[in-house]
Amino acid sequence: MKIVVIQGPNLNMLGVREQNIYGPMKLEDIHAQMKAFAEQNKHEIEFFQSNLEGEIVDRIQECLGDADGIIINPAAYTHTSIAIRDAIAAVKIPTLEVHLSNIYQREEFRHKSLTAPVCAGQIAGMGPYGYHLAMVGMNQMLTEIKMMKEHQAKAQAAQAQAQA
Ligand code: DQA
Repeated sequence: MKIVVIQGPNLNMLGVREQNIYGPMKLEDIHAQMKAFAEQNKHEIEFFQSNLEGEIVDRIQECLGDADGIIINPAAYTHTSIAIRDAIAAVKIPTLEVHLSNIYQREEFRHKSLTAPVCAGQIAGMGPYGYHLAMVGMNQMLTEIKMMKEHQAKAQAAQAQAQA
């Protein structure tokens, strides 16, 4: 199954920006770990980072009919972007929101996530490990969805046979 990882503004500066909050790890190192986990679990994975809201909306829309799961850190847009929220709601793809920092412990303007209510779940405050937790969670969700679909297909086939 295919997972798309979407990273919002300034996350390309991880390892440089506010290390006291975000730590020393670079985005490419986080992605390398996610890629290794995806490969171990036989998932396809793609990474996208943008500092532009519209590009993030476009990337979410492109997931329709292509991706099975989205892991997103909308960064500052978490707190402002109705457009990103609407895009997540529109594609109806299981989405997990990740924040390196615990946004609820920080300035008040970070306490509200506009995007979390349309996501399946949110992980905040675990640093780079949060992305690994998101991969574990996504793997579990995708496995459950696959099993549910297989079960439904079997039930439908049995029903069709019974009616024949
Ligand atoms: C962040 C938290 C946001 O409030 C902030 O604007 C970011 C990063 C995080 O990962 O902790 O850029 O999403």
